[in-house]
Amino acid sequence: MRTGLLVLILLAAPAAATAADNPLLAAQARGYTLAAGVCAACHMIEPAGTSPNPRAPPFRILAGRYVPLTLQRRLADIAETGHYAMPPINIHADQVQDVVAYINSLERPTDPH
Ligand code: HEC
Repeated sequence: MRTGLLVLILLAAPAAATAADNPLLAAQARGYTLAAGVCAACHMIEPAGTSPNPRAPPFRILAGRYVPLTLQRRLADIAETGHYAMPPINIHADQVQDVVAYINSLERPTDPH
């Protein structure tokens, strides 16, 4: 419930004043903006829907597949070397943390899967 609300807030107003006061919200908002610019060409980054590139897992699936630390390490690797069909992405370590914060905001869906 809290997570769903958070995502709604982020989607409705990524640069809302609340984000400026809350480091985690701010990181998630930066991560969302980055993902929208860099990842969304292939991945579905929203809480629902299918990826433009059918081979690229939607971010909500990644949220369920990884625990935060593992995801961060995996993304740092991917940023450097790429991953199979996914080319290397040119993002900074800080940006990796932001994207991880955003992906983890998609975690813990309210409905069982
Ligand atoms: C050009 C298309 C493309 C872009 C852009 C892209 N990805 Fe991917 N990504 C893929 C594909 C395709 C896969 C599946 C790779 C495979 O399994 O062969 C993938 C897989 C992944 C995985 C799973 C890796 C694993 O080991 O399970 C993560 C995490 C990921 N992408 C994160 C990101 C993030 C974060 C961004 C943006 C910063 C991004 N991707 C941008 C195509 C892309």
